[in-house]
Amino acid sequence: MNLIREQQLILQSEKVVVFTGAGMSAESGVPTFRGKDGLWRGRRAEEIATPEFFASSPEEVLEFYRWRRELLKHVELHPGHVALGEWTKKRGSAVSVVTQNVDGLHQKSGCPEVIELHGSIWSEHCQRCQETVEETDAGLCSCGGRFRPSVVWFGESLPEKGWSRATDLMSNADLILVIGTSAVVYPAAGLVSLALKNGAHVLEVNPEPVLEDSAQTICGTAATVLPELLRSPQA
Ligand code: OAD
Repeated sequence: MNLIREQQLILQSEKVVVFTGAGMSAESGVPTFRGKDGLWRGRRAEEIATPEFFASSPEEVLEFYRWRRELLKHVELHPGHVALGEWTKKRGSAVSVVTQNVDGLHQKSGCPEVIELHGSIWSEHCQRCQETVEETDAGLCSCGGRFRPSVVWFGESLPEKGWSRATDLMSNADLILVIGTSAVVYPAAGLVSLALKNGAHVLEVNPEPVLEDSAQTICGTAATVLPELLRSPQA
């Protein structure tokens, strides 16, 4: 794979944001939402991940998150994660990761700044008093409310602090690397349009690119493309 032009673009960029979705974790064995393994017990994410479904079938929703956590406990980082982790550490504050993933794998690979737009599967908060616990399957809070995973469900707002940091970063970046997202879930997907409007280059890594009109695309998977893309062109 000859990526010299893309490597040079990365090298020349002062502020880079890496924007990721479920495809980033796919080669670690984490199913994407809209791929062929995306259904859980025949249900789509849009059905399970909603406050309404939690209100009517809390046990089923908690079971879904238990299953995802159990799966995540056994996955390993793939070469794309490792390359991204090393590269972001090297570039320091010049690079931030904005992710729609809730799996914590970017943090595990050592990326210094990770903004989790859709929250984290590794913590829970009380629906009534909002107390947050770094614990999973916490059950009932001392106030009597029910703990729920601290992930953003369809129809809910994104965490304000993360959203504001992400819009700031995306507005001021000169390069956005978009990796493994179908870019159909708003408002997160709108961040790419925002960056384009502000003059950023957008470079997409996806075996089935979705941003073809507005972005430069590299047709390939995260684990195969990133180790090559993120090494310096002379090396
Ligand atoms: P999707 O499942 O919608 O899209 C995954 C994307 O990754 C697709 O474009 C695939 O072509 C691509 N892909 C698959 N394998 C890949 C690989 N090995 N390397 C690179 N790309 C690959 O997932 P998201 O775009 O993350 O939200 O979905 C966005 C949001 O919808 C999620 O955060 C979640 C979901 O429902 C909530 O739960 C609120």
